[in-house]
Amino acid sequence: MGSSNKKVIAISGSPKKNGNTDKLIQWFSEGAAGLGAQVTVLRASELKSSVAGCQSCRACQKKEEYGCVFKDDVAEALLGMNEADVIVMATPLYFFAMSSQLKAVVDRMFSLYKWDNDKNTMETKLKGKTLVLLASAYEDAGLKELEAPFRLTADYTGMIYKSMLVPNAGVSGDITKRPDVRGRAVALGAQAVTGR
Ligand SMILES: Cc1cc2nc3c(=O)[nH]c(=O)nc-3n(C[C@H](O)[C@H](O)[C@H](O)COP(=O)(O)O)c2cc1C
Repeated sequence: MGSSNKKVIAISGSPKKNGNTDKLIQWFSEGAAGLGAQVTVLRASELKSSVAGCQSCRACQKKEEYGCVFKDDVAEALLGMNEADVIVMATPLYFFAMSSQLKAVVDRMFSLYKWDNDKNTMETKLKGKTLVLLASAYEDAGLKELEAPFRLTADYTGMIYKSMLVPNAGVSGDITKRPDVRGRAVALGAQAVTGR
């Protein structure tokens, strides 16, 4: 077993406390923290936001430093992502997509990039970090499609990408009845912070 001094920030996209998404984060965190990583968990639904998602104001592109110009809990979470080594996005499948609570945070990650359209360049401190998707669904349809924006974002950004998709997870809390899931999530947490 190795050890890790990595920083992990996990965003839960589910409004349900102790539901399937929270369980996946909890188990993943056990694996990561067990190796010494520092784990911070935030709930998207509890982050106070002064705007309903990214406003496309592009004010973030006109300033030197990275971060959203709307100062609220989401902006703080974004700065936390910039400081983390591993960013975990966790979501239930809602109508074959991520939850709206998580999407509202993801779109404001626009402020963590700097684009120069004239020079056709993009810079971001997210490059080289690890992006992890944890997702569950009641049925066995749609998780691959849910994964596409996360995988594409990681590829675009130059992030290492890992995921754990759990179909047939039941309703909130039922995931604890699946014998295989806990061990896989703990192992993924350990892998994500040791670069394996
Ligand atoms: C608004 C809403 C939409 C959902 N849409 C789907 C869906 O499209 N496909 C599916 O398999 N499950 C769907 N579900 C079920 C959840 O994805 C599933 O139970 C998930 O594991 C719940 O995670 P949680 O306990 O963290 O909220 C939906 C649930 C809700 C509340």
